[in-house]
Amino acid sequence: MPLNLGDAVPDFSCDSSVGQIHYYDHVGDENWSILCSHPSDFTPVCSTELGTLAKLLPQFERRNCKVLALSCDSAESHRKWIKDIDASGYCGKTSSTVSYPILADEERALAVKFGMLDPEEKDEKGQPLTCRAVFIVDDHKKLRATILYPATTGRNFYEILRVVDSLQLTDEYPVATPANWERGEKVCVTPSTPDEVAQVVLGDFSVVKVPSGKKYLRLSKDPGYKTPKVLKRGMVETILGTEYGAKLLPTLGRMVVAFALGFSSSSFASSKKKEKPVHTTTQTSGWKKR
Ligand code: BEZ
Repeated sequence: MPLNLGDAVPDFSCDSSVGQIHYYDHVGDENWSILCSHPSDFTPVCSTELGTLAKLLPQFERRNCKVLALSCDSAESHRKWIKDIDASGYCGKTSSTVSYPILADEERALAVKFGMLDPEEKDEKGQPLTCRAVFIVDDHKKLRATILYPATTGRNFYEILRVVDSLQLTDEYPVATPANWERGEKVCVTPSTPDEVAQVVLGDFSVVKVPSGKKYLRLSKDPGYKTPKVLKRGMVETILGTEYGAKLLPTLGRMVVAFALGFSSSSFASSKKKEKPVHTTTQTSGWKKR
């Protein structure tokens, strides 16, 4: 049976480039995870993908998201391949390496279990190769999103980060993220959220006027967005002296007030997994998905 969104992803044990992996133990109770399958070792597109994942690993870690890859060769083969990937230039800084586990699914047991085989692409023995699947799994081990690409199309891992951002944000707030949304951009208020609740939880929102007259396209600021930590003292002085700084003043003013009240901007964001957002007690419509 293929896994559907919302299904619990079963635990498994498997040898890997970093030794035996027990999936649930490896990920832990607090973390999300992504599991990315690859056709086979020493292949060009896979090498660029695994290098790119190594480069982006800090960004996944910031989102409490563990990275696991899977390829249908031995752990020994994976370790040899990693040396090539590290040298390929795709890992970013010269010291970056593929430190996350590459599962050694030699018998294709996991690929079959998770429905990751591509019937169109065969290896030299005529066996189906694994396709490029990504499973995004939340901290309750539930499958939250998948993508499935053929072997010939490399994935965009910025898109995976974007989806993790969207899932984590929409778990915490009654919002949905629009097309091409990126962190910090406007979000849609979910249709089931009454105006009064949206106002309390999200603050001011706008309603886009449409010919039907229906007020379903309501936009608010990203409620989970943290102001980047670039506002160091010297920088603030420099920035405030510029025209750009003048535009920033209202935001800085709000931050000062927030600090005076004992909050940091991240208190509103609640990006830490188990923290409840400050507005939880005002919730009346139950938007939390989990
Ligand atoms: C690759 O990773 O480059 C690849 C693997 C199998 C088929 C086509 C491309």
